[in-house]
Amino acid sequence: MKPNIAIDGPAGAGKSTVARKLAEKLGFLYIDTGAMYRALTYCALKKGIDINNPDELTELAENVEIFLTADEDGQMRVYCCGEDVTSYLRDPKVSQCVSKVAEVPGVRRRMVELQRKMASAGGVIMDGRDIGTYVLPDAQLKFFITADLEERARRRLKDLEKQGYIADLEEVKKEIAMRDAKDSSRAVAPLKKAEDAVLIDTTNLTVDEVLQLIFKISRERIKDDV
Ligand code: DC
Repeated sequence: MKPNIAIDGPAGAGKSTVARKLAEKLGFLYIDTGAMYRALTYCALKKGIDINNPDELTELAENVEIFLTADEDGQMRVYCCGEDVTSYLRDPKVSQCVSKVAEVPGVRRRMVELQRKMASAGGVIMDGRDIGTYVLPDAQLKFFITADLEERARRRLKDLEKQGYIADLEEVKKEIAMRDAKDSSRAVAPLKKAEDAVLIDTTNLTVDEVLQLIFKISRERIKDDV
């Protein structure tokens, strides 16, 4: 069985770019767990569900089908309740509400169940906040990717602009700082580096430099499988 790789870290640290490219290189399946929480949040907002009501959110989580797939260009598409919700995942309203949805224990229970099922056959690179500590504590390789707040906000702003959203650096910084605080302080599976995760600070590194580093470590650590 191929190993699993866990990649955690705060918002905007570059986890998904690195995870996607590493998955391409190794021929692994990439699973963006943040996209799953975002899809559920979008679905809750669309259905007019009160995001301050944990019972309604839990019921929704237990009854929706969320799945991730790749289109012909290898781009990840996320489906929720049969609808392709990919283009709504970074909507500022979704970003504002997602931490609130992700702190509900019933929501996390269901998402973690789906995530573990997807990783059960191995060969998965999963990124999120609690992958190395909680979802896949036995993952053969774990990374914790971070960068300072200013740099993470700049990167997120660029991404948003690429997707056609008009945003302001200070606003993005505030939103990321708020999510960091919420994600790190919640009672269930908070954002935390696993003790056995390799810490990588990407503040002063290019995407290629980060990739080279991670690829080298992956090769060394799981040499028989990649
Ligand atoms: O990685 P992202 O910014 O797309 O994640 C969106 C939110 O989802 C993030 O603020 C916290 C939550 N999340 C989580 O609680 N656990 C995960 N494994 C992944 C994301």
